[in-house]
Amino acid sequence: MKRIGILTSGGDAPGMNACIRAAVRAARAQEIEILGIRRGYAGLIRDEIEPLDRKAVANIIHQGGTILGTARSPEFMDSEGRARAIRNLEKSRIEGLILIGGEGTFRGATELSQESGVGVIGVPGTIDNDIYGTDYTIGFDSAVNCALEAIDRIRDTALSHERLFFVEVMGRHTGFIALESGMAGGAEELLIPEIPFSIDKLCEHLERSFRGEKRSAIVVVAESGRPGDSFRIAREVRDRVGFDSRVCVLGHLQRGGSPTARDRVLAGKLGVAAVQALAAGKTGYMVGEINWKTAYTPLRDTWKKGKQLNDELVAMRMLLCE
Ligand code: F6P
Repeated sequence: MKRIGILTSGGDAPGMNACIRAAVRAARAQEIEILGIRRGYAGLIRDEIEPLDRKAVANIIHQGGTILGTARSPEFMDSEGRARAIRNLEKSRIEGLILIGGEGTFRGATELSQESGVGVIGVPGTIDNDIYGTDYTIGFDSAVNCALEAIDRIRDTALSHERLFFVEVMGRHTGFIALESGMAGGAEELLIPEIPFSIDKLCEHLERSFRGEKRSAIVVVAESGRPGDSFRIAREVRDRVGFDSRVCVLGHLQRGGSPTARDRVLAGKLGVAAVQALAAGKTGYMVGEINWKTAYTPLRDTWKKGKQLNDELVAMRMLLCE
């Protein structure tokens, strides 16, 4: 393998830069040329491809976002868009491609690996952690710690005013961020899509808590496809049991900022492993980490087989979130 390309796609995640840096270093160590593709699949379709050298990735390990830029590209989802992308890969003589992203990125990557002769390796980069085939995705730990810091701050004011707060965290279809940040922040209740809940049960729980010693409470809500829905939940709780509350939607704050040490190390490991996989002739896989070991999962499985929350954590939440 003489020349590879790398792109970041979908929602950005802290640690993507650390992964690009690692891939550039690993490629150069094997005398493989590496090109950066700007703005994800959209840039590949528009031929926005440029060489990446060590200088281009100097001093980026601590930076959030992605130096390559990113986008969600509906064009890549149809075969015409992909055909243009493949032509550009051929024109630049790219033999292998590293794609850092989440579920949507890997859906496109699955098609690309079938339709082109280019080697395709995915690296899981999304704050949602909703990718099958890896214990953690790049960016998840940073997002959880960002949410946790916010929950801790909210707790100070909630305690002072003796208030109920709803803190809404990201997670398009899953509750990974809510579960970990909520447990770590000692939330009184977690509302996550994987566990059915009813407003009646939530009200009962809150009434019980406030009849006891509680003077304040924090409910962590996963946005699960309806950003801002926690305002509706807060209204329904007020209408039923009269509790006044405040809502704090953390939103895109969780996507930015410097990656944690854990994310930087994971990003470095997976960036190197992706280059090694391409050099060894592997294609059509995502490289992840399971039980601390590098693991290869067929790209199709990463988005087809749903990733489950950790059962033990889910069971413990009854005890720890009260
Ligand atoms: O997939 C990552 C994520 O941050 C989700 O948690 C969230 O639902 C979505 O992206 C938001 O997407 P956008 O940045 O396009 O609004």
